[in-house]
Amino acid sequence: TPIPSPDLKTCGRATISDGPLVPYTCCPPPMPTNFDTIPYYKFPPMTKLRIRSPAHAVDEEYIAKYNLAISRMKDLDKTEPLNPLGFKQQANIHCAYCNGAYIIGGKELQVHNSWLFFPFHRWYLYFYERILGKLIDDPTFALPYWNWDHPKGMRLPPMFDREGTSIYDERRNQQVRNGTVLDLGSFGEKVETTQLQLMSNNLTLMYRQMVTNAPCPLLFFGAPYVLGNNVEAPGTIETIPHIPVHIWAGTVRGSTFPNGDTSYGEDMGNFYSAGLDPVFYCHHGNVDRMWNEWKAIGGKRRDLSEKDWLNSEFFFYDENKKPYRVKVRDCLDTKKMGYDYAPMPTPWRNFKP
Ligand code: C2O
Repeated sequence: TPIPSPDLKTCGRATISDGPLVPYTCCPPPMPTNFDTIPYYKFPPMTKLRIRSPAHAVDEEYIAKYNLAISRMKDLDKTEPLNPLGFKQQANIHCAYCNGAYIIGGKELQVHNSWLFFPFHRWYLYFYERILGKLIDDPTFALPYWNWDHPKGMRLPPMFDREGTSIYDERRNQQVRNGTVLDLGSFGEKVETTQLQLMSNNLTLMYRQMVTNAPCPLLFFGAPYVLGNNVEAPGTIETIPHIPVHIWAGTVRGSTFPNGDTSYGEDMGNFYSAGLDPVFYCHHGNVDRMWNEWKAIGGKRRDLSEKDWLNSEFFFYDENKKPYRVKVRDCLDTKKMGYDYAPMPTPWRNFKP
């Protein structure tokens, strides 16, 4: 049986991964009264594809637009804390779906470590992008993607490193600033090596995760997750580099914040808080792009055909504050969903070890 959309009425407290209860509720705001059961989502008519660009290469005009959209989202937190389009409410979606706020089939819902990972985050970003576009009246607004599979993108995209802007986050590891090269394979340990060597290691690792270790769908997407039975085995890309990028960008677990609080990896390094860093959606843009790139390699690299996957459901608020249920089967083609990725070369394809 596929995983059904969670029921908002049963939403409860969430727990910080490897920590105490989340000190606030992650549950979505109440539904509008005219929604008894959440209807299924239909794609609105599309005028023009939204094209997601590599974050390291966007121009100042885009950066200004993006910052404006995020700052309007953050303003909603202050003026209308229960507006589902607010910045915190949007971040709480990740917390609710990943930190045990919902019980489904007798177990805590967890969209990571399984084949729900790619489709859940694709739908999440889909609505997030539309909300940002709506807030700045730009129906073609597209999120940027953190192009960490290309040497030019193997560092924090510079636009996120400007203090005082709305896409800056103080709860990031300070070590990641000023162009530090990212180690896509590290779970926190630091290896002394040259920047060039690190980049070439990253490309080798991308080849391994995209080509060698993911010749068929279950290895790429992760293990089946059906009602009452979740074996928790993530796909190749979810494990590496997806997790290392989270750990890298978040504060070090166990370190102390200026106010004396202990860090649980905030923001990027813990599920409950990851969505509070705008770079999260940029990181997941590239994770999502890897899904398309993986299929483009060919062979047996196709979407899963299991009904339990195709018919799994989530729910989200759209940019008009209306809740909708969505199915995995409707998110397999990004162009049909109204967006695509500006192409970038994929040099890792020539990095066969
Ligand atoms: Cu839902 Cu990158 O984690």
